Amino acid sequence: MKKQILYNVLIFSVIGFTSCKHDPPYNGEDICFESQILPIFLTNCTSSGCHNSIDQAEGLNLTTYTGILKEIKKYKPLESKIYEVITDHGDDMMPPPPRPPLTDEQIELIYNWIWSGAPNDVGCGQVLNCDTSNVTYSITVRGILIQHCTGCHNASIASGGVILTNYNDVKTLADNGHLWAVITHQGGYSAMPPSGMLDSCSIHQIENWINQGAPNN
Ligand code: HEC
Repeated sequence: MKKQILYNVLIFSVIGFTSCKHDPPYNGEDICFESQILPIFLTNCTSSGCHNSIDQAEGLNLTTYTGILKEIKKYKPLESKIYEVITDHGDDMMPPPPRPPLTDEQIELIYNWIWSGAPNDVGCGQVLNCDTSNVTYSITVRGILIQHCTGCHNASIASGGVILTNYNDVKTLADNGHLWAVITHQGGYSAMPPSGMLDSCSIHQIENWINQGAPNN
């Protein structure tokens, strides 16, 4: 009997919690997966040994929409594994300590995004035209670097001692993981470019090139 009462209290508090949290219901129309949700995962979950496309810890690649969706139950944040672990304070806590937990704002954003059906297509037009299959150093990667990086990283202005105008130097940074770390804002590295994160298409194109072994093609 006691158990039943406790159970009812629990159910009511869960219902109460979910229904007042979005009153009036949040429609999620202005959440953009590519610019608001994906960067949270790239920054906090995809460093070396974790949930990136190579290491895939626990079989999870959290660098793509499809990969993230595997751990999500659309419209049901409280039943989604991802929401569970980012709000857990025990053994399942993600990111695992000593890494800092997500901020309340990030957690709420993820909650609202799942609650609104975890859409991938809202305000994210450029991603639909993103070609990550024909990535080359000479055209794709060099193009991104010239547009976003080489103004501060060339032979005469080598910020931080880093030059990004020739293949060999870029290759070294690709192989030692620094290129991926700075563009996805991993802890312990400077976030590059300093003005804000690259668009997700550029990040995935660079990722694809790194995964191919960073060839001089
Ligand atoms: C407005 C100038 C500016 C732009 C643009 C810029 N950087 Fe930097 N970068 C810096 C400065 C300054 C440093 C050294 C100080 C620091 O580490 O914050 C640096 C440091 C670095 C480092 C070494 C950091 C570390 O923690 O090891 C790398 C790698 C790097 N940048 C890559 C890039 C890439 C890739 C881009 C383009 C996506 C880029 N940077 C765009 C100014 C810039």
